[in-house]
Amino acid sequence: MRGLKVGFAGRQRLFRRDTGVSAVNGVDLDIAAGETVAVVGGSGSGKTTLGRAMLRLIPTSGGEIRFRGRDVATSVDRDFRLASQLVFQDPYSSLDPRMRVGEIVAEPLRHVPQLTTAERDWRVETMLDEVGLAGLGKRWPHELSGGQRQRIAIARAIVREPAFVVADEPVSALDMTIQAQVLKLFERLQAQYGFACLFISHDLAAVEQVADRVVVMQGGKIVEQGSRDDVFDHPRHDYTKALLAAAPVLDFAGAAAERVSG
Ligand SMILES: Nc1ncnc2c1ncn2[C@@H]1O[C@H](COP(=O)(O)OP(=O)(O)OP(=O)(O)O)[C@@H](O)[C@H]1O
Ligand SMILES: [Mg+2]
Repeated sequence: MRGLKVGFAGRQRLFRRDTGVSAVNGVDLDIAAGETVAVVGGSGSGKTTLGRAMLRLIPTSGGEIRFRGRDVATSVDRDFRLASQLVFQDPYSSLDPRMRVGEIVAEPLRHVPQLTTAERDWRVETMLDEVGLAGLGKRWPHELSGGQRQRIAIARAIVREPAFVVADEPVSALDMTIQAQVLKLFERLQAQYGFACLFISHDLAAVEQVADRVVVMQGGKIVEQGSRDDVFDHPRHDYTKALLAAAPVLDFAGAAAERVSG
């Protein structure tokens, strides 16, 4: 991404128009194949907008997005559509309640050319197995726990073997013990399938666990970026220092020592 901008128009009120917001205001970012880049930052800093704009789910107002060297910002690029996926924050609202679990996971495969029904069924079964939910394909979403639902959401995102996944707060709706399990699963699948990932999170412990690089956003701009260890151990920007200081129970120095010794 180069100079990416996303603006939202102000709302028309009775006598005046609210001024618009520039939610993303000139972001340059590179993500290598297989790399996980975490985006952290306060509420309203533009993280979700950035992730959605990258997937072309909302229009951009300026800048470039290239995927494998091709411009995908201004034209519809079928390869990019097939190769990119989103995992939402809320597993309760992101799964269609009228579809069985197996159908939900199979859905992205509809757009894959030349896939037979048998192949598709096999891939869905394999995927359900990978996320620890073998045999639950006939269930409805409401028959699953929150953690199980998020596993389904992840299975749906991975089943087409994407090159790039945006995960927007993928575990923050789950309780702590389940968060850790689902994060572990996500990490394992990433190692196995090798997709690149934009991992949006408030949760610095989760970021510490999964990220190769960390990007800090404030007011629609990247104010700091670097390797995970660099940003956590030697934050330069005041805002990053404040974010790290605000993370309650984390012992970053201890975690860094563990990484060195492990
Ligand atoms: N559809 C929209 N219409 C108008 N303004 C929007 C829209 N979506 C987001 N915004 C505004 O854009 C800015 C960035 O929002 P965004 O959702 O990207 O923040 P965020 O970093 O994801 O926050 P959070 O951590 O709370 O999820 C905010 O000022 C928000 O109010
Ligand atoms: Mg958000």
